[in-house]
Amino acid sequence: MPDGMTHGAGAATFSVGRRGYGPQLPGNFTLPVPYAYRSPFRHPDGSYDWKAELDYGWALIDRQTTGALAAVIIEPIVSTGGIITLPPGYMKAMKEHCVKRGMLLIIDEAQTGMGRTGDMFAFEHDGVVPDILTLSKTLGAGLPLGATICTEEIERVCHERGFFYYTTHLNDPLVCAVGAKVCEIVKRDNYPEQARRKGEVLKEGLLNVSTCAYDSDCSCKKSTRVSATFEAED
Ligand SMILES: Cc1ncc(COP(=O)(O)O)c(C=O)c1O
Repeated sequence: MPDGMTHGAGAATFSVGRRGYGPQLPGNFTLPVPYAYRSPFRHPDGSYDWKAELDYGWALIDRQTTGALAAVIIEPIVSTGGIITLPPGYMKAMKEHCVKRGMLLIIDEAQTGMGRTGDMFAFEHDGVVPDILTLSKTLGAGLPLGATICTEEIERVCHERGFFYYTTHLNDPLVCAVGAKVCEIVKRDNYPEQARRKGEVLKEGLLNVSTCAYDSDCSCKKSTRVSATFEAED
C-alpha cells in the first residue's frame, strides 16, 4: 500500500476512493468492521458476536490467499469509517490471527494517537503492542508530519534488504522540530489524562440525552450505545 498517502491508503480500503478508478490494489483484502449495531453475527441472545465475525472474515481470506500475506493494517477506533470503537479483546484476537499466519500488525493511529483517546496511544487499551505504528495529524500540530515507527528487528531487515523510500519533505527539519515540541507538550501537560477526563464528561452527557438503540427501557452504558442511537435516528 502506498505509504502515508490518504488516497493511496483509502483506495485499498474504502470504495468511495476507488470510484471511477477500476479495481482495488492487488493483494489487499478487507475484514468486516466490527460494528455491533449493523453486524449480522449474533449470539443466541441477540448480542453481537464479534469473534465469530472476525474468525469468519479470516476464514474467507485464508481461502483466497496462498498464506503469504504481509500484514494487517487496522485503526484502534475506526475513524473515517464511522467512529467505531473495537470491542474489548478484538485487537488482542487480531494480533493472535496475525501471529498464527506470520503476519505483522500495523496499527494506524493517525487519528487516535498522541493522547487523543485517554492513553498516549489507543493500542494501549487492549494491551497489544503493534509491530509498526503510524502517526500523523496531532504529531505535526497542523503541519504535514507523519511517522512510521517499528521494532528494531523490522528496521534491521529493511536496512539489510535496501528498502528505499523518499518524498520531497522526508526528514524535513522544520516539521520534525514541531513534532518534537508536540511530543514534549503532550507529555508535559498530560494530554491523555485531559482527554480521558473530558471524554468521560462528554460521554455521560451524551448517554443522558440518548435512548438505547436496542431497547428504549435499557439502562446500559455501553460505548456503542450512543453511536448506535445516532444511526437509528438517521
Ligand atoms: C486513519 C488515517 N490513516 C492515515 C491517514 C493519512 O494521513 P497522512 O495523509 O497525514 O499521512 C489518515 C488521513 O486522514 C487517516 O485518517
